Amino acid sequence: MTLKFVVMSDLHVMPQGELSMTLDTGARLEQAVAAVVARYGDADFCVLAGDLADLGQPSAYERLKAIIAHLPIPVHITLGNHDDRAAFLSVFGDGFIAETGKVDKVIDIKGYRIILLDSSEPGRVDGVLEAGQIEWLRARLAEATDRPVIVILHHNANALHIESDSIRILEPDAFINALKTHPDIRQVIAGHVHLTSTAIWRGLPFTTLSGGHYSCTVDQPNVPMRRLAGPGQMAFVLGTEDSTTVLFDDYIDGNEEIFVEGDAA
Ligand SMILES: [Fe+2]
Repeated sequence: MTLKFVVMSDLHVMPQGELSMTLDTGARLEQAVAAVVARYGDADFCVLAGDLADLGQPSAYERLKAIIAHLPIPVHITLGNHDDRAAFLSVFGDGFIAETGKVDKVIDIKGYRIILLDSSEPGRVDGVLEAGQIEWLRARLAEATDRPVIVILHHNANALHIESDSIRILEPDAFINALKTHPDIRQVIAGHVHLTSTAIWRGLPFTTLSGGHYSCTVDQPNVPMRRLAGPGQMAFVLGTEDSTTVLFDDYIDGNEEIFVEGDAA
């Protein structure tokens, strides 16, 4: 019994006919949906980890809703800094609001607990987890000490040692301390940085995926970040009792495929 799910992030969908950073992000999301249909139709669900609409427009959420209606698996959603909570709810409905007042969620499936946290805060680019959310997280973790937990949110909590560290989760200590109350945190998965990374920080495993929008190259002192049109990337997560694996699927990569004589067709 293997848990399988897909994480998409940073879709940055614009209304029909409009581009974001030169990219038709709606068309890119359609490619992502096609990739799920082709490869992950037997997955348990898909998570959208925020920055769903580039400018938070209701018409962008309408377009998003129409495109993800073609996904053959359930979809769970949380928000990012580009999102507008009121506009999102006006299209998707108030059922997405948890008792925290934000778009948080718990999913119990195949021996795992998956927790989605809404780290968006109106008017801010960096991420905020409110005291009420931390309290809610601690309670949800306390209920599930007998099973592995995966946490998914938009903003990265850990520093990646790049310039965008200044817009990660603001004051992450309360979040980390809450996670530390659980004995088996398998992954903390985020988007936001438009960059693929994995890290261990304070004994916890962190991952970011580059998502559906432009991707960022790694910047270093005197080496500025560059924005690239690809990959469009989703994460495919496989969970068993004793292993949790994150694969990165570049469904838009721009690379030429290599064919070698003698390869199986
Ligand atoms: Fe983003």
